[in-house]
Amino acid sequence: MRLASTAAELPERPREGTRAVVMTMGALHEGHLALVRRANEIAEQVIVTIFVNPLQFNDPSDLERYPRTLEADCALLEAEGVDAVFAPSVEEMYPGGDPVVTVSAGRIGDVFEGARRPGHFDGVLTVVLKLLHLTAPDVALFGAKDAQQVIAVRAMVRDLAVPVRIEAVPTIRDADGLALSSRNVHLSSQDREAALALSRALAAAEAAARNGDPAPDVVRTGMDVLTDATRASAGVAVDYFAALDPRTAHEVPADHRGEAVVAVAATVGGTRLIDNKTVLIDLEGRP
Ligand code: PAF
Repeated sequence: MRLASTAAELPERPREGTRAVVMTMGALHEGHLALVRRANEIAEQVIVTIFVNPLQFNDPSDLERYPRTLEADCALLEAEGVDAVFAPSVEEMYPGGDPVVTVSAGRIGDVFEGARRPGHFDGVLTVVLKLLHLTAPDVALFGAKDAQQVIAVRAMVRDLAVPVRIEAVPTIRDADGLALSSRNVHLSSQDREAALALSRALAAAEAAARNGDPAPDVVRTGMDVLTDATRASAGVAVDYFAALDPRTAHEVPADHRGEAVVAVAATVGGTRLIDNKTVLIDLEGRP
């Protein structure tokens, strides 16, 4: 496995077959490895980028505290048979400081996760576009768990005609349904039990959609599960539970037909968790 800190050090593209890129900020866990394994399935050459991107942090102390574990990450990636790790320095990515020209997530950046972290998706898209240029993959893989990030990346690729295929890799869940997250370690066993309300709420919303219910009822059904959870445990606070348009990340209208991303964010015992499920709202049998 090659460790490159500049694009020039990356291996040659495979003569035949595809190059896949998995972008990360390091501190790798099973969720990242699921992306890498999927990349290995579909591509002849896999590059993993590791770069803690200052542009997407709102709080400088969060950026400073962000774990940097390059050696351990490389060991994990080597074991997965990755061809190269691209780990540029901040100076390499942003010579001369913050870039003058950046990418705007537009109205995708104003809602839900974007509303809570102003500028975050602009920072994500700016680094993703630059990493796409530097690594020139045929396909780039992102975790479906960060639904709004996937929506923003897909929109950028579509709107700016970036020549790459984006694949969203399904969220890895524990046997009880809890979505894997590096934040789960902060949950006590009681919190962990309470946190299951998120995946239960999404499953209830999915069942309502399958039943032919319109978007507001799909959302209400999931929200009822969460309301019960907040009654049962004082440690659960719902931030949002909504059905999002997969192109814009804005809430779908009441008469929406087609795919919707039902997304939830909640704080459980002080730990903020997000999760989502894509459902099909087809109002079957409804006028
Ligand atoms: O999802 C992440 O880890 C980051 O947002 C990404 C895509 C690597 C960009 O810095």
